[in-house]
Amino acid sequence: MIDTHAHLYLEEFSQDYPEVIAKAQNAGIEKIYLPNIDSQSIEAMLELELRYPDFCIATIGLHPCSVKKDFEKELYVVEDWLGRRKFVAIGEMGTDLYWDQTFWQEQQEAFKIQAEWAKKYDLPLIIHCRNSIDETIALLENLQEKEKPLKGIFHCFTGSLEQAQKIIALGFYLGIGGVVTFKNGGLDKVLSHIDLEHLVLETDSPYLAPVPYRGKRNESGYLSLIAQKIAEIQSVSLEEVKLKTTQNAQKVFGI
Ligand code: NI
Repeated sequence: MIDTHAHLYLEEFSQDYPEVIAKAQNAGIEKIYLPNIDSQSIEAMLELELRYPDFCIATIGLHPCSVKKDFEKELYVVEDWLGRRKFVAIGEMGTDLYWDQTFWQEQQEAFKIQAEWAKKYDLPLIIHCRNSIDETIALLENLQEKEKPLKGIFHCFTGSLEQAQKIIALGFYLGIGGVVTFKNGGLDKVLSHIDLEHLVLETDSPYLAPVPYRGKRNESGYLSLIAQKIAEIQSVSLEEVKLKTTQNAQKVFGI
């Protein structure tokens, strides 16, 4: 399995990340993608990548919750890194109308700029959107071109069936995490209508731990609980979920 989204470089793991990584490897995780947040998180993220080459893989981008008045300065740091070395994705980027709506204009601007970089470097986007799925779909629809199609993952997808179908039509994957195991999460009713070929697995560690760890610190080793739940919803074997979602992750990251 591949954890397409985990922030294992954060403070929450500073005391025991070697154990967390060992547990993930024992649980059958082959790779963990580390989406960046902003200029403050890059150093720790790259350090973790350096310690676990080919296992922990950094991506570069500016998280919408870090888009403030000075977002152009933050984006300059991302642009600089994109020119300095190879990355496999731009993220995490996106929109967020849940925490703060003050910088909505700036969020949209940062989205467009990062989407242009994705085209320029031919990289997938790792998209965060919270209370803003329709707005994000609309942004993407305006940016999508036939010659240079944008691709990537809608991380932590929790939307409706209609929204899922629009995302798939845009050529994007749905990142499924711990929310799928939550009672009354509602995601089971959507996923029962979505083919496995559109899904990738993610933990979003340290956030959104699946049941029975809900509310506790999440870690990549819990990924199989998410795969298991998808297998139940779709009435397929756990092996099939693991195989298909791994192939999808390989496709999106170009492995
Ligand atoms: Ni994240």
